[in-house]
Amino acid sequence: MSLDTYYTLGGSGLRVSRLALGSMTFGTEWGWGANEDTARQLFNTYIDAGGNFIDTADLYTNGTSERWIGKFVAERRLRDRVVIATKFSYNAEPGNPNAGGNGRKNILRAIEGSLQRLGTDFIDLYLLHTWDRLTPAEEVIRTLDDLVRLGKVRYVGLSDTPAWYAARSQTLAQCRSYEPLSTLQLEYSLVERNIEREFVPLGLELGMGIMVWSPLARGLLSGKYQPNEGSFTGSGRLETMRNSNSPTSLKMTERNWQIIAQLESIAKELGNSIAQVALNWTANRPGIASVIVGATKLAQLEDNLKALDFQIPDELSDRLEIVSRPEPQFPYTFFNPKIQAMIHGGKPVSLKPKGYYPVM
Ligand SMILES: NC(=O)c1ccc[n+]([C@@H]2O[C@H](COP(=O)([O-])OP(=O)(O)OC[C@H]3O[C@@H](n4cnc5c(N)ncnc54)[C@H](OP(=O)(O)O)[C@@H]3O)[C@@H](O)[C@H]2O)c1
Repeated sequence: MSLDTYYTLGGSGLRVSRLALGSMTFGTEWGWGANEDTARQLFNTYIDAGGNFIDTADLYTNGTSERWIGKFVAERRLRDRVVIATKFSYNAEPGNPNAGGNGRKNILRAIEGSLQRLGTDFIDLYLLHTWDRLTPAEEVIRTLDDLVRLGKVRYVGLSDTPAWYAARSQTLAQCRSYEPLSTLQLEYSLVERNIEREFVPLGLELGMGIMVWSPLARGLLSGKYQPNEGSFTGSGRLETMRNSNSPTSLKMTERNWQIIAQLESIAKELGNSIAQVALNWTANRPGIASVIVGATKLAQLEDNLKALDFQIPDELSDRLEIVSRPEPQFPYTFFNPKIQAMIHGGKPVSLKPKGYYPVM
């Protein structure tokens, strides 16, 4: 079983499963999550399959996600076995700007709430959830280091920041001997490959393993939605959120329907589910440390947990790569072999071994 083979996260000594369990679906507050009994089943199934890596955030389902994880961990006395990742950034008190964001005052407030809801006195992996566009990297990285020294946090990371901010943070941490960032948590899937340009090389170069979120593009890459006269049919979170302001609707493009059609044909050739092929492809890309799987139903999780139990042959993997390849963009257009040959005097250019994709 692929889940009970563990890997160290980024440059750290923390051992984690290559599939993490997402818990944004733990709780019904947001209109598309699971109730407590189902969430407990999801948690227990993941643990029994050998998984050890649980992702949550103080934001999720208004705190229910953290509370239930704390409860499920305690019920089975698993605190030393599981690796709990949680996050801060989102505001907990309307009208009070310091009850959100990434400044020291909020981080020190947020961690106490997470510790209390999770029923623990330490967090294994504490992440900045989203860049607030204001707080200097120095302040964040120093505060996270303080939390490690206080024993409240074991490892630290960033989610959803620009690459320059992550690079600056990690370089500062290394130069000042603060706890280095061991992970970058980012959206990545066959329909969202932007991180290949900056974040994958960054993670490989500076020792940050990428934790992938929304590997199925919120269910789209399970193949259960169909295009329908400029819109779509099918039920699940995307249908529930159809008229919300979420960026979800941006995913329903002609290009993405073509990616799904290719995925479907490859899944048929392999005899695997569409979701398994999408997860497998994502997990095996360079720089990817762990893929966070989400589910609202037990059958979905059981399907997803088998995603690493097979190999996609190169020829089929290439077909997926080609159909989903991002559009060329400056300055990456300058890094192609032709222009590089002009730089290197016509000699063959050897790319760095991993992660330096010719996304041009
Ligand atoms: N750092 C961040 O900013 C950030 C952002 C988002 C998420 N996350 C983390 O990443 C985790 C995963 O994100 P996500 O839930 O968006 O992941 P996802 O894998 O893209 O979508 C999961 C959803 O797809 C549907 N699904 C999953 N497996 C399926 C299957 N085999 N067949 C059919 N439908 C299936 C389910 O929704 P339905 O049943 O409703 O269709 C499920 O909840 C979250 O729980 C959270 O921990 C982090």
